[in-house]
Order: sequence, then C-alpha cells, then structure tokens
Amino acid sequence: MCGIIGYVGLRDAVPIIVQGLKKLEYRGYDSAGIAVWGGNGFDIVKQKGRLNVLEERLRDCTIKGNIGIGHTRWATHGEPSDTNSHPHVGSRSKIAIVHNGIIENYKQLKELLEHKGAVFASQTDSEVIAQLAEYYYNGDLLETVIHVSNALEGSYALGVMSLDHPDTLIAIKKDNPLIIGVSDHGNFIASDVPAVLQHTNKVYYLNDKEITVLQRNGVEFYNINREPLQKTAETISWSADSAEKGGWEHFMLKEIVEQPKVLRETVSSVVNPGNNREVIDKIDITKFNKIAAVACGSAYNAGVVGKYVIEKLCRIPVDVELASEFRYKDAIIDEKTLVILISQSGETADTIAAMREARSKGAVCLSIVNVTGSTIAKESDFCVYTAAGPEIAVATTKAFSAQLAVLYGLAIHFALQAGELSPAGAKGFLAELEALPEKTEHILGQIDLVQKHASECVGCKSIFFIGRNIDYAIALEGSLKLKEISYIHSEAYAGGELKHGTISLIEEDTLVVAIANCPRLHGKIMSNIEQVISRGAKVLLIGNVPQAVQDDKLSVIALPPSTELFSPSLSAIVLQLFAYYVAANKGLDIDKPRNLAKSVTVE
Ligand code: AGP
Repeated sequence: MCGIIGYVGLRDAVPIIVQGLKKLEYRGYDSAGIAVWGGNGFDIVKQKGRLNVLEERLRDCTIKGNIGIGHTRWATHGEPSDTNSHPHVGSRSKIAIVHNGIIENYKQLKELLEHKGAVFASQTDSEVIAQLAEYYYNGDLLETVIHVSNALEGSYALGVMSLDHPDTLIAIKKDNPLIIGVSDHGNFIASDVPAVLQHTNKVYYLNDKEITVLQRNGVEFYNINREPLQKTAETISWSADSAEKGGWEHFMLKEIVEQPKVLRETVSSVVNPGNNREVIDKIDITKFNKIAAVACGSAYNAGVVGKYVIEKLCRIPVDVELASEFRYKDAIIDEKTLVILISQSGETADTIAAMREARSKGAVCLSIVNVTGSTIAKESDFCVYTAAGPEIAVATTKAFSAQLAVLYGLAIHFALQAGELSPAGAKGFLAELEALPEKTEHILGQIDLVQKHASECVGCKSIFFIGRNIDYAIALEGSLKLKEISYIHSEAYAGGELKHGTISLIEEDTLVVAIANCPRLHGKIMSNIEQVISRGAKVLLIGNVPQAVQDDKLSVIALPPSTELFSPSLSAIVLQLFAYYVAANKGLDIDKPRNLAKSVTVE
C-alpha cells in the first residue's frame, strides 16, 4: 500500500527520489518522506500530507546526497502524522529504513527492544525494523538485514541505509513488490517500474527473501543464507511517457481514452500467436469440472462478467469469489478446479493468499494480471497478461476493460475445446471481440453527452445502478466506479431484486442508472424502470433499447449494437466516463480518492 524508492549513484538523490515518489503516489498519499546521506549523517525530511507538501518543505532546505531512500505512505499502524511518516531511524540514528507492508509481530519485537533500551518515536509497526536493525548491527549491514528478516513476521519490501556504509543500499522483500533498476548513472530500488522508467528500462524482479546490495557501480543478489544469486535483468517495454499525464487533466481520463488501443493489443494477444496465446493453448478445459474466479474490487466485478460469459459459452459452472472470503472459507476445490485469479497489480494481498490456498488444495491457477513480474504472475501456474500498460489512477478503467477482453478470449477458447462452440460459431464471437476497440472509439465520441448527464448528478445523495443478467454484472462495476471517486453513495442491484426491499429507498428524483443490453430481458428491465419512475425516480438508461418509454424522467445514452455477452465492455466505458465527470464536476481529487490506494497489499 505504500511506495518505496531508493537510489545510489552519481547524481543528486533528492530530485530523483522525489520524482520517483510522484510515480508511486498512487500507492498511498497520507504522508511522504525522504532520507539522504549528506556527509555528516542522515538528512531526513518527512511530512504528513501529499507529496507536494514534502516538495514545498524540500524547497526550503538544501539537503543533498548521492544515496537516499523515499516513501509515500498509506497509513495502517498509527495515524497519518509527521512522526509516523517514513523513513524511520533507530534510537541511535545509525540505520534508516523505508518499509511497505505490515509487520505482524511488531508488538512483541517492540516490547523486547524497549526492554533493551530502544526509544520508539512513532506508533508505526515499521519503526521496529529500524530499531531491530540497530540492535543486531555488528558492522555488517548485509548480515544485519538477514537477521532482521528472519525475526520479522508479516510482509515487507524494505530499503535500508546505514551511516557506516554511505555507499551501500540494501533491499529485501517478502510478500510485497520490489524491483531493482540499473542505469548508467546509478541503481534503484522501487515498489513499481514507473518510478525508475525515466532512468532505465532494465529491471530485476526480486523474489521473496532475496536480498540486493546496491552500490553506485553495480548490484549483487543474495539469498537469505547469504549465498550469491545470479539474476537476469528484464527489459521493460513501457515508455516513460506511458506513465505521464501528457496534458490530460487526470490520469483516469487519459486511461479511459487509451482503451481502444489497450483493447486492440489485448485482444490481439489472446487471438494471435505470441506469449499469451501460447499460455492459453496450454490449458485444457476438459480436465476441469468447475472454474472459480477469485479477485477483489473491480477485478471481482470482471470475474462476475466472466461468469456469465463462460457459463453461457462453455456450460461449465463458474463460482465468483471475493479473494478476502475465499482464502478463509475452506473452499471446495481440488485438482479438477481451474482457479482464475484476476488482478491489475498482481500484488493484492488477499488475491495472493487465495492463490496460495487454491494451489495448496491442488487447484490449477490461471492468472490475468497487468503488472509483469508481479507475485501473482510469477506464482500462478499460468499467467495471461493484459496489455493495459501502466495504470496510475486509483480507479481502474483500462485494466478492467483488458481483463474483460482476456476473459472473452478464454471463454471462446474453452468453448471450442469443450465442443460447445463450432469453429464457425467461434469465428462469430471472435469477430465481436475484435470489434470492441472500434465500438469503444465510437462511445468515446459521445463524451460530451455523458458529461452533460453527469453534470446533472453532482447533487445526488445516492445513485442506484440496475441491470439484469450480464447487465447486472456490469452495474456492479458502474456503482463501484462512481462511489470510489465521487463519494456519492451508490448500490447496484439486479433489476428483479428491487421489489424485494431496495425500492423503498427510491424517493423523488433519486437517480437510477439502468443498463439494458439483453434483448430477451428488455421488457423486464423496462418494467423495473417504470416501477422506479412511478415512485419519483429519474432514470438514465444506458444501452440499446429500441422502444424506450417516453418520459421526462428518462434519459438515454445509446450504445453501438452488440450481442449481449460483449455489451459489458461497451457499458463499462460509459459508466467510467459517467463516474469520472460526476467526480470532476464536484472538483474532487479523482486520481487519488480519499482513503484508497491503488495496490492493496495489506489484509
Ligand atoms: C478499482 O477501481 C479499485 N481501485 C479496486 O477495487 C481494485 O480493483 C482492487 O483493489 C483489486 O486490485 P488488483 O486488480 O490490483 O488486484
């Protein structure tokens, strides 16, 4: 949930770290801080609030150094405050650390260290790492980090500096992401690739409990037994520009508009020869008697859409499970279950735990992941990558659409394998899939219309989303998108469920967004619409309804024609734009909604 970065090299570390933190701010923005070795000790500046507050403070002080670490925080232990901000140092100010993760045994360690004389400054779990490092330190920083790691329970990506080794930065990770970037002017640690892209596209991905010793001229890798490791650097194909706002007001809008390209690339990767295709071809669906789609948040919603599509095309039962529930429910799965894990980041703690649980029960895990080299991508049996590129806005848009595209590709492939679809039938569905980018472009041509409707909803206290069948699946995502960035209360309901309770919430001028793309259910959703209008609601209808009821209370945003199975990809674009413009009209911080972080690496 937090972002960490470190640099050791020829250049001034301060601007490099601050610039890297800007790329990691999506991971948390309760506070930010930096520590550099300035010649006489650590110079530390840390501050509650967004990174721009830290930047202002840095303008007033002249700290400089060629080695340093930085942090952007999503608070877990201890309120957002200057003191609880990272970096943390031990009582003797000899070792400074930045940490992303949660130390589960911090209370026991704290008690022990206090007993030994350590004086804690913060309420964080992270400070225990700095204090423990000072306690173990015997002049050998690598050995110290190994000792510390062995004593810690929980998850961590760590950057460690010591006063005695002003040329060395040490990093280690367990259950939280960390990459090592190497460039001609210096070397980096970072929670995510965009933080280093301006300097290098050569990165190493660390595995759990692998340690990196970074110096200006090179990096060395060790395992937890201090044995040297040989690792191979990977070349990142993303350009530095792809993680820049590039003139757009918000990353979210930029990312919505990028969707035709993302869809083209993702669809092509699942249809045409290449890495994704090779992976998909390896999976034999006839070996499984059920599928479990497991994920969190929007990725879960993608799984719900996937359930409707896969069940319809392949006639295989699909359970969709929240990863946070699945991991503790003693799921009924075995080697005949294909578990599909869906995750943009590939680092969501609950999804990782669910994957490990599933594998321990013998299930085969197929992941759909956006971030190369992430934990889920690496640990799953098969990984299909979405080609969304870096997604910076906390609210996912293009990665969600790319997940749907992969799920469609899988469903068609599985249906063919299972004999539920003839090659000719599959061709028709593939054509639908390949038409999505163009239809998305068409929808993006209607931005002004969506913006106009959104501007009328700014004062709404509550907005309901309804749909039937697969339209209900995408209504879930419309509702989540709206609430996470606009702070307007919202719920999604299956249209048929309204009369079982929810309809009592409908008041004069309550907005109901109805999604209607299932021709066989048009009559049903239209009667739900009439029911809410007759109780005073206003309705915004998204879909293709030839004969909508004429009513002052009803507005329509028409979608390009599509079969119902593929319509969620089209509704999603309108719903994303709708949420975006409602939030924009309220003047909110769309890319960094309050209390949220992009990558939820804690339980
Ligand atoms: C979506 O807009 C959210 N910010 C959130 O629900 C997200 O989809 C969820 O946390 C899962 O993340 P992941 O895809 O990286 O696993």
